Amino acid sequence: MILRKASLFLLLSQIVSNSSEFKGSMTKRQNLMSYTNILTEVKEHGFWITINRADKLNALNILTLQEIKAAVNEAGSNPAIQVIFLTGSGQKAFAAGADIAEFAEFNIEEGTKMSADGHAVMDSIENSPKPVIALVNGFALGGGCELAMACHLRIASDNARFGQPEINLALIPGYAGTQRLCQLIGKGRALELLLSGEAIKAEEALKIGLVNQVVTIDQLHQAGEIMAAKITSKSPLAVAKVLACVNDHYASERNGFLTEINAFGACFGTSDLKEGTQAFLQKRTPVFTGH
Ligand code: COA
Repeated sequence: MILRKASLFLLLSQIVSNSSEFKGSMTKRQNLMSYTNILTEVKEHGFWITINRADKLNALNILTLQEIKAAVNEAGSNPAIQVIFLTGSGQKAFAAGADIAEFAEFNIEEGTKMSADGHAVMDSIENSPKPVIALVNGFALGGGCELAMACHLRIASDNARFGQPEINLALIPGYAGTQRLCQLIGKGRALELLLSGEAIKAEEALKIGLVNQVVTIDQLHQAGEIMAAKITSKSPLAVAKVLACVNDHYASERNGFLTEINAFGACFGTSDLKEGTQAFLQKRTPVFTGH
């Protein structure tokens, strides 16, 4: 099974590298912004963001969250990038939550601002026109679970643990955990996690739809690349439209049905749709350029 997936990855990578638009970008040197608490790297069409506070189990202090937001925006505006990976350093934690030491003495105003700013970070991930894949390499607790949920897809290593333990601190999730958990796993199970504060194992997270896939920790990055290859072989214009339409299903101020009608129509103004349909009719593999 793994071998079959690996060969699919190679095949799809080949298809992507056949695109003249993307050929140059693979060899181009990338001038990446520098950050303090995260590491960034460009590999092929993927932008890798690694939370780099392993000694604090990658706890999300304010600087780290702002850097993640900046990096997602950086990846979003880089035309060579088609997919974004988000993971944690080490083998113990994706992120063990917001940094408790940082917010312990906050007052009401500071707490409200912390939550509003955190929401903006999560929204920037969810609204990214490029798919963001969380590679959850251990604890994803509190803000870490919320961060994973803001991503479009989640692959977990089998040692991962998910939970919203804020209730143990007489707190509640502040980065939209009460909302996205309901969206992903339904109200009943969401309330169980939110009210008990208990963490669940990766396999349980898979069973209830909180993650898309579970692999061993050694396979985590490769599994992400295989999943990404399935997406990067498609037109990035169509990919961005799917993300926007699905997001609008959950946006009360917008009508996802209408978004879909307009996005569907807009596809007919792209060269990629012409290429996709012609390639089908000519029984060949399409070469998308993102135009
Ligand atoms: N905020 C700040 N620091 C954190 C943290 C967090 N959310 N989670 C872990 N850390 C720090 C610990 O304080 C410790 O730092 P120290 O070595 O300077 O004392 C270090 O990370 C290692 O954590 P530790 O608790 O010793 O590891 P453990 O293996 O015994 O336990 C956890 C792991 C995840 C069970 C435990 O760290 C934990 O419960 N973290 C908090 C989870 C949480 O409540 N998140 C929601 C916050 S709103």
